[in-house]
Amino acid sequence: MPLPIDSVATEAVAIPTRRVRDRFEFKPPLKWAGGKRWQLPALEPLWAKVDAARLVEPFCGGLSVTLGLRPRRALVNDINPHVINFYRWLKRGLTIDFALENDQRRYYQYRNRFNDLLGDGRAHTSEAAGLFYYLNRTGYNGLCRFNSSGGFNVPFGKYKAISYRMHFSEYESILSEWEFTSADFEQIDLEADDFVYADPPYDVDFTQYSKGGFDWNEQQRVAEWLSNHKGPVVLSNQATPRIVKLYRSLGFRLSFLEAPRRISCTGDRTPAREVLALRNIA
Ligand SMILES: C[S@@+](CC[C@H](N)C(=O)[O-])C[C@H]1O[C@@H](n2cnc3c(N)ncnc32)[C@H](O)[C@@H]1O
Repeated sequence: MPLPIDSVATEAVAIPTRRVRDRFEFKPPLKWAGGKRWQLPALEPLWAKVDAARLVEPFCGGLSVTLGLRPRRALVNDINPHVINFYRWLKRGLTIDFALENDQRRYYQYRNRFNDLLGDGRAHTSEAAGLFYYLNRTGYNGLCRFNSSGGFNVPFGKYKAISYRMHFSEYESILSEWEFTSADFEQIDLEADDFVYADPPYDVDFTQYSKGGFDWNEQQRVAEWLSNHKGPVVLSNQATPRIVKLYRSLGFRLSFLEAPRRISCTGDRTPAREVLALRNIA
């Protein structure tokens, strides 16, 4: 059943996670902070209704939305070049030919090797893609963090058990007509009828600054850019008052969703409210 889209709604709609498990079996291979796989039941009817030739995800991160909607054509972008290198190799049916072990000593050995590849200008290789996958699955919380000299510096994750895969050939056919770019979102060459699903880093309310360097000016830049697109647009963000105001003022239609996790570190257990802001979708 499609979720109601209501421009004046203040109640957030909760999406049962069972619906995601049952209907969207193609799981993203990476762990990614802020993954939106849980939104697929709300997004699928919008995508189906528009029937666009191409899906564009300017902030693809863990790729959960494009993988869930499975368009024939897609343009998938993220400013993080390592995640895009991994997807480019996924498209070529990546095979990992070194041992994958949930072991601390091995982790730091592979982390050093990955950093050596970056230092040698070999960040685009299949070895770098395989190591990035291993570090993502094995490192702390799937974080992707670099020190000031550009070295990946996430510590070992200490998970009890990890299931790794060595072969990714089944992605080849799904990704065969997907294009991958790594750039700032404004560099993307949009076609007028592209369906854009944009999930930028969350707005962190009451502050100009955010850890990922994505401040309020960046949020406004995203909103302006999306509002200039002639085709269908779905924006996802945390429903902070200023995000709601910004997208309303630009004429987007809003609906509210209840995120299936807590994002507060203050002990507040209220489910986070998220907003989908829509344009050019009847
Ligand atoms: C909330 S995450 C996206 C999560 C994704 N929807 C998923 O389901 O996994 C936001 C992403 O935006 C990327 N990003 C941050 N600034 C960007 C920029 N200026 N242009 C393009 N991507 C950017 C980050 O690297 C991050 O992967």
